[in-house]
Amino acid sequence: MQIDTEHLHFWMQAIRQSTDPQRTLDAFWSGQLKSKEWLIDNLNKTYYWTVDRPATISIHGGWVGTLASMLFQSNLPIKYIESIDLDPTCESIATMMNKLEEQDGKFKAITADMCSVPLRSDIVINTSCEHITQEQYDQWLAGVPDNTLIVLQSNNYKIPEHVRTADTMGEFWDQSHIKVIHQGTLQLPMYNRWMIIGYKNV
Ligand SMILES: C[S@@+](CC[C@H](N)C(=O)[O-])C[C@H]1O[C@@H](n2cnc3c(N)ncnc32)[C@H](O)[C@@H]1O
Repeated sequence: MQIDTEHLHFWMQAIRQSTDPQRTLDAFWSGQLKSKEWLIDNLNKTYYWTVDRPATISIHGGWVGTLASMLFQSNLPIKYIESIDLDPTCESIATMMNKLEEQDGKFKAITADMCSVPLRSDIVINTSCEHITQEQYDQWLAGVPDNTLIVLQSNNYKIPEHVRTADTMGEFWDQSHIKVIHQGTLQLPMYNRWMIIGYKNV
């Protein structure tokens, strides 16, 4: 996908103004960017028959707002994106990353626990499944309305901050309790990324 120079400028500003630029740069590893590009490509395939208008999207565990910015630069029709993260340092970085859309009232970064925010969007994306326990995930899923399109990503990369990895796609499926309409695996040099798109298994 193409990242245009105007958006790139705000990506660089976000890194420059971050209190920990080195940590912020972790969001720009090739595997992180490729996982998001892959998500957008696959969301594109299900989007038009699941959402019949420009969508409202909630990104949970949205980190520094890279996915939101990439979604805005994709050809998906988007009305509004909110990016929710527990870490209060993410809010200003994600706001700078999405400055153009924030100025237009199309983007908001929010500091909150994804397990306790009210959800009213057409689509909810959670690419931080490996960062929450099964108990937190179950609580999170319980708060998702039945008609919300759900996009999940996790991986098999074992580091201390990943409290709930999945060794296989099947294990991720078992953890997720989703009526699956699309699933896929992205093989990256250091780990596999799993993705499920679907609805709550009610
Ligand atoms: C390292 S980042 C993102 C990793 C993921 N693979 C991605 O690229 O989207 C994980 C983020 O999840 C956030 N997070 C963890 N638990 C959360 C919760 N309960 N609610 C909201 N955000 C949470 C962390 O603060 C962190 O910014």
